[in-house]
Amino acid sequence: MDKFVIEGGGKLNGKIKVSGSKNCSIALIPAMLLAPGTYTLSNTPNLRDVWTLSRLMSELGAFCELNGNDLFVDTRNANSTYASYEQVKRMRASFYVLGPILARHGEAKVSLPGGCAWGPRPVDLHLKGMEKLGAEIEIESGYVIAKAKNGKLEGAKIHFDISSVGATGNVLMAATLAKGTTKISNAALEPEITALGRFLIKMGAKIDGLGTSTIEIEGVDELKAVNETNIPDRIEAATFLIAAAMTQGKIELTNVNPYHLAAVIDKLEEAGCEIDVNQDTIVLTMNDKPKPTDVITSVYPGFPTDVQAQWNAFMLLADGTSKITDNIYTDRFKHVPELNRLGADIELVDNCAIINGGKKLSGATVMSSDLRASAALVLAGLIAEGNTDLLRIYHLDRGYELMENKLLDLGANIKRVKTEEF
Ligand code: UD1
Repeated sequence: MDKFVIEGGGKLNGKIKVSGSKNCSIALIPAMLLAPGTYTLSNTPNLRDVWTLSRLMSELGAFCELNGNDLFVDTRNANSTYASYEQVKRMRASFYVLGPILARHGEAKVSLPGGCAWGPRPVDLHLKGMEKLGAEIEIESGYVIAKAKNGKLEGAKIHFDISSVGATGNVLMAATLAKGTTKISNAALEPEITALGRFLIKMGAKIDGLGTSTIEIEGVDELKAVNETNIPDRIEAATFLIAAAMTQGKIELTNVNPYHLAAVIDKLEEAGCEIDVNQDTIVLTMNDKPKPTDVITSVYPGFPTDVQAQWNAFMLLADGTSKITDNIYTDRFKHVPELNRLGADIELVDNCAIINGGKKLSGATVMSSDLRASAALVLAGLIAEGNTDLLRIYHLDRGYELMENKLLDLGANIKRVKTEEF
């Protein structure tokens, strides 16, 4: 098992290239099950969640090979309709394979993904969507067994009560091969869904309304394999912007889409950061402590829940009280007790963290519990006095490509150490 040892103090300065989006690649790869063929997905982040999904794809009969940031996938023999618990349990988003398998083969048996470290994460909307498309669904021994009536899904009108990235993506993929037209209302607007839709269109799907809350899909008989370039990771970008701001440094991000980060940039400016944006670069300069802010997470284009924990770490520096309310995942606050162990003063009231900033932070041993909580703890370690040992960084490795190398390039004092500690 690995841990990070971080010595706090010092500014982060320099330039880094943002990696490809984890969440987008994790949606695009299952889409490749819709059409047998060979694909190359460039700008794929080389990280644990992609490896996990590649293993699941192999279980389904595909061949996956990651060379640097080019992922080669051959789905010509991906004929299995069975996604085992062994593979799905490693990553919730594996559930994305349900839609493509069901659409192409008329049936699927996919393990239910279970919860998350911070609480339950239901898939009822995914299942409701598949049922509307004409699938009969049974839950048996922890598996979803789905069968399309007459062997083929049929287009339908589907309204989601909650805007869900995963359910929208899953239904979008399934509907591409359904007979007739599907209309999804209250569809997710997240850039990863728009990118998935664009990829499907490139494969031959007929889709209208991407990036709006109503998406219309006219089913086609078959799709074809194509190559694609993944979009930049907006959450990794936000994490590094906040890291630099916390150390009162200066950072230039390249390979980034500033448009995807509008809500985060707006809040960074409110906190006192100077930001220069170009087409695919962002330069952030911070010369002071941040001002306290109130943040409420919401669906895109609102402030992302995936940046909530990192913002929490940032606000530890503000003199005064800040609030962060998470309306998407109301239990996602595992980082709070760990930040408090470093000397922070954060109170949790329901789904709102109240941060009394300006307290002295001193290094301690802290524990990662999930991906973004781990990122928040790295950021706090960068400003704490002394050494912070961050355990269980396998959570972080799920979603950040070479995080410590990028931080080292920016001048941080961080190292990865093998440890027996758990
Ligand atoms: C995706 C992202 C995750 C991000 C989240 C919200 C991936 C791989 N993961 O997760 O990083 O934090 O979007 O931006 O892209 N819900 C239901 N029933 C369902 C599905 C969702 O009630 O069937 C609820 C969830 O509990 C949550 C809300 O809908 O409150 C949004 O979740 P959703 O957008 O589905 O998140 P994911 O796709 O799982």
